[in-house]
Amino acid sequence: MKNNDQWWKKSVVYQIYPRSFKDSNGDGIGDIQGIIEKLDYLKLLGVDVIWLSPVYDSPNDDNGYDIRNYQEIMNEFGTMADFDQMLAELHKRDMKLVMDLVVNHTSDEHEWFVQSKKSTDNPYRDYYFWRKGKDGKEPNNWGSVFSGPAWTYDETTNEYYLHLFSKKQPDLNWENPTLREEIYRMMKYWLDKGIDGFRMDVINMISKQEDLPDAELSDGQVYSDGGRYYMNGPRIHEFLQEMNQEVLSKYPIMSVGEMPGATTEDAVLYTDPDRNEVNMIFTFEHMDLDSAPGGKWNLKPLDLVDLKENLTKWQTGLHNKGWNSLYWNNHDQPRIVSRFGNDQEYRVESAKMLATCLHFMQGTPYIYQGEEIGMTNVKFDSLGDYRDIETINMNIERKALGYTHEEIMASIYVKGRDNARTPMQWDHSEHGGFTTGETPWIKVNPRFKEINVKTALEDPQSIFYFYQKLIALRKEMDIIIEGDFQLLLKGHPKLFAYERRWKDETLLVVCNFSGDEVAVEDEELRTKLAEYNAVLSNYEGGGQSILRPYESMVLKNR
Ligand code: NOJ
Repeated sequence: MKNNDQWWKKSVVYQIYPRSFKDSNGDGIGDIQGIIEKLDYLKLLGVDVIWLSPVYDSPNDDNGYDIRNYQEIMNEFGTMADFDQMLAELHKRDMKLVMDLVVNHTSDEHEWFVQSKKSTDNPYRDYYFWRKGKDGKEPNNWGSVFSGPAWTYDETTNEYYLHLFSKKQPDLNWENPTLREEIYRMMKYWLDKGIDGFRMDVINMISKQEDLPDAELSDGQVYSDGGRYYMNGPRIHEFLQEMNQEVLSKYPIMSVGEMPGATTEDAVLYTDPDRNEVNMIFTFEHMDLDSAPGGKWNLKPLDLVDLKENLTKWQTGLHNKGWNSLYWNNHDQPRIVSRFGNDQEYRVESAKMLATCLHFMQGTPYIYQGEEIGMTNVKFDSLGDYRDIETINMNIERKALGYTHEEIMASIYVKGRDNARTPMQWDHSEHGGFTTGETPWIKVNPRFKEINVKTALEDPQSIFYFYQKLIALRKEMDIIIEGDFQLLLKGHPKLFAYERRWKDETLLVVCNFSGDEVAVEDEELRTKLAEYNAVLSNYEGGGQSILRPYESMVLKNR
């Protein structure tokens, strides 16, 4: 079957991070029964696809992105019977389920790795990357994404194994055809259960340059960024085409590849339907604009002109060639209202403005749990309240490099992944209604009394109902799906304005990314604002030529 029905072009995806969504049994950890409890809430929002972060058996070094058994459910989350029930309940409500597929690496507790470690001639040895040390050191100078070297020594065989993430996440060797077959078999197991697609974790890292060479070290760096030798590597398109032919093409599903370091040119190769790879990818470029050289922890304010330029490149670069994913948030990113908006005085206005700016673009939008009620970043006083391995390792590394505690905390407050991972805020009760237990696995954001689902549902002007409207408009207006993209006011430092055009229709979107009143000076745009029909605004009485703080307006030519 060729995947001709591109249903995912009209869908809006909602991401659930199960550990933090809803705890049904009081152990402080979200679970599958908790998700089932909240499906009517998601239906009310109007989303039609759920992307579920990993629920597989895992020792949780990286909260499930380290899988011990691909065909079992994590005990803390429930059982396979719970999973089957969730899938049936979703389908009953006409919603679809996309599972996380983490196959760049496994857990070091996965049976394959346990075997692989035993001896150099074990049949599973070649499922992973094992190498001898070089001059008493690691086989190459690559650093791990989670700090420190990308190699760990194992004394059983006196060799090192490669792990681009934590040392409990050894990388799988995709050069091995038997391994690839095992993965395809496992994917079919889930698809045959009836799931509707995969979100593929760092999938553009599965093909490494075979000789694994050293990469250049910049000043003061101990370990290098080996990305150019494993991102979009030599056999990546071949592997994805094989996976597509063996698995994806046989089911009416969607696929989205998480692809750090992919350019628009790469994205066209990955998502051009004629090439039979994946349907869409997650780019990281717009998420890197507020980082200085040296990585995400080095803070830099966002320049709106950079953001406009970047998103325009993706909108125009993929139009009629591939397909975009649209996102501001996920479990790895800080909360967008705290990041590009204003999480104090203009929290509601800026959350709606940011949603507007993204949801009228071309592509499939992704909403991350809590985004629809404007959840914010968190500032825990104590490092001991943080749970994320990336944050914990960064603290150790930077302390050793001489950074002060204040500098480290400043980076965590702005960029730490736990900003996105505090529990979902359901109501005013203790722990925001996330758990009836005494201690959630990570603290609830102290703003839960003000920001929660119950309050949002009671207020017709809430961010929740604004998202509901955005989702409904996407179902009604084909121009959102089909139209081209034209950036207006290119160099303007505060306004993000663009047009979508399709047949004889024009949709105009104007967003004020600042806390100031901003007058539209451009004559042509002023005329359009006066003449076009209002579609949606985040303030009463939009359509003026002076935009209020974080105001957004959407208008249509007829
Ligand atoms: C990307 C995932 O989104 C992230 O949460 C995880 O830590 C890494 N890949 C490693 O699996």
